[in-house]
Amino acid sequence: MGGHMSGSETAGIVNLDDFEAKARERLDANAWAYLAGGAGDERTLRANRGAWAAPWLQPRVLRRLAQGHTRIELLGRTLAHPLLIAPVAYQRLAHDSGEVGTALAAAAQGAGMVLSAQASVPMEDVARAVLPEAQRGPLWFQLYLQGDRDFDLELVRRAEAAGFEALVLTVDAPVHGARDRERRAGFKLPAGIAAVNLAGAPRAALGGELCGGLLAAAPSWDDVAWLRANTRLPLLLKGVLHPEDARLARQQGADALIVSNHGGRTLDGALPTAWALPRIADAIEGALPLLVDGGIRRGTDVLKAIALGAHAVLIGRPVVHALAVAGAHGVALALRLLRDELEIAMALCGVDTLADVPRSLLIDASKSALGAPWERPR
Ligand code: FNR
Ligand code: LAC
Repeated sequence: MGGHMSGSETAGIVNLDDFEAKARERLDANAWAYLAGGAGDERTLRANRGAWAAPWLQPRVLRRLAQGHTRIELLGRTLAHPLLIAPVAYQRLAHDSGEVGTALAAAAQGAGMVLSAQASVPMEDVARAVLPEAQRGPLWFQLYLQGDRDFDLELVRRAEAAGFEALVLTVDAPVHGARDRERRAGFKLPAGIAAVNLAGAPRAALGGELCGGLLAAAPSWDDVAWLRANTRLPLLLKGVLHPEDARLARQQGADALIVSNHGGRTLDGALPTAWALPRIADAIEGALPLLVDGGIRRGTDVLKAIALGAHAVLIGRPVVHALAVAGAHGVALALRLLRDELEIAMALCGVDTLADVPRSLLIDASKSALGAPWERPR
């Protein structure tokens, strides 16, 4: 695996999809089945992208853009732009540097980094590598509750001590999705790649069966209340799609929500996130910051997400594709390309800041983002 910074691996790459094609050439069938796949027929995986493409932009012209910028406010911090890296497990499948490479690239680009509970490098290594970086974005730790409060609390304390700045509790994966691609490929973690931060986890099936054994201890709202009461860190819930769950999350003291269907990897047939987002925004009425992920590949997708009520977005697969192609250099380039696209989209839509992007930027958002596709005029 090439780890050196050089332009040759990324020659010809101009957008995030270009990384996917190159990554596929570099990765073996085993790793590809895990990284690229979704659940079942992959309907949700495909629909995520289509749902961002569906609404048309209704741009404004001749507006003053001289003071324009991509900065946002999120959980008490000012960020250079609204892009974060989604928690993605086992990144050493893509590149030897794994999550450390990804985190360094995120820091260089001022992007947020969410480290997966199932990261393949020690969480302290990631924190040490990026906490001193002045321009870095936020560093958050994602966790699954393991059904053993002593173990869970130890993991939370470890993340706090390492310097992670928020906890992201993923709630949409109490079991591993039915992933046909993984099963066809007979996916196995290669020797030397493991969820190293979960050594000693109560469930012994770690690694062999991936999330299967790990997630069998399905958490409930009581566990969210317990977690809220046991950490001072901001708490985000990731994987909320129903407006009623968004209200419950707010009642339980969540500090922010990530509207997500796990990139189509858990429940196939779950609605695309571009549809869920405005419904949740309407239910929450600005009381909590909303983030969203799933199929966001273009600067225009990011702008649409913000028009539909998101404060920030997370990027999953393109990050591991870029990591596979050119390590940290690849991930930094991917983030730079998306930032540039966002700035161009803002300028061409007459949007100077992301604080108040109106839904009216999207034409017929009620039909194309909320209505059934079969009702859409052809
Ligand atoms: C994920 N995702 C994920 N989510 C999470 O909360 N914990 C995890 O460990 C993982 N692991 C993981 C591995 C791989 C290979 C993928 C592709 C995804 C889901 C991830 O955080 C995010 O929700 C989606 O990837 C977003 O969709 P896109 O950007 O990949 O389309
Ligand atoms: C996945 C688990 C690790 O999506 O969240 O593969």
